[in-house]
Amino acid sequence: MSDPRILVLGSVNVDLVVQGENLPALGETVIGGDFFQAAGGKGANQAVAAARLTGNPVVFIAAVGDDAFGSQVLQGFRSENMMTDYIRVISRMPTGIALIMVNRAGENCISVASGANLCLSVDDVERVPEAVFSSAKVFLTNLESPPEVVARALARAKAHHLTTILNPAPASQRIFDSAILAHVDILTPNETEAHDLTGVNVGDAATAIRAAKILRQQGFPAVIVTLGAAGSVVVTEEAKRIDATVVRAIDTTAAGDAYNGALAAALSEELSLEDAAGWASRAAAISVTRSGAQPSLAFRSEMDSY
Ligand code: RIB
Repeated sequence: MSDPRILVLGSVNVDLVVQGENLPALGETVIGGDFFQAAGGKGANQAVAAARLTGNPVVFIAAVGDDAFGSQVLQGFRSENMMTDYIRVISRMPTGIALIMVNRAGENCISVASGANLCLSVDDVERVPEAVFSSAKVFLTNLESPPEVVARALARAKAHHLTTILNPAPASQRIFDSAILAHVDILTPNETEAHDLTGVNVGDAATAIRAAKILRQQGFPAVIVTLGAAGSVVVTEEAKRIDATVVRAIDTTAAGDAYNGALAAALSEELSLEDAAGWASRAAAISVTRSGAQPSLAFRSEMDSY
């Protein structure tokens, strides 16, 4: 196995999905949907997304339960281009579960029971040898794991001069704690998270750039706001708009994870931030044309034809 260039820390879930016509309103029952189960979790999705797009193995730091779901997802990771040595199996804990509803437009709502993900600890980060951090180029994480664990992993990654990406999903004001903020190079909120973090109603490139500039003023050096079908904006000293690839969306679950994993893969191959964002948009576009989180993630061989 060649040296890993990408490290991902994050959550592992099994997604239980009902795909139907409409999302139910509060208190409403909607019938007629189709059910399927898929591997998910923002951390796992991001790790798999990166692993499918790059030649070097992706190191994934995570926790699963000692149940049938945990065994299934571990087996899945072993068939990907991933190093699974730092995934801990937690006894007497259930693997994370996400209940997902998807409507005809591919929009979703998600409720997560984190289970074993909440047992991921600072010790799990400390167990990863120095050599693994020092061989890597990019570290990627999100906010489905305990914040002190996210903070420690970011700090270790930064101490080894990795490019660090924080996908602030689900949004939390904890990102402004110096233990996190000081170690993030690139922050990647979607429009909802950008709104939650800044108060700006993000709906287009102009408002996304406004929110990104606020986040930069708070101390994040680069901010990419993803806008779904409207593309994304990359804001450093300058602001660039990246168009999305136009596709017919079937299921947008994990589109953000596809984007972040691809961004990490592209940066690990030393693409510029703008080119990496373009590549990530393409990976996200492919993912929304297919159902499910990990089943929808793009392979390298597919990227050129988009
Ligand atoms: O980002 C999509 C993911 O969010 C799903 O796979 C679900 O598990 C939740 O973590």
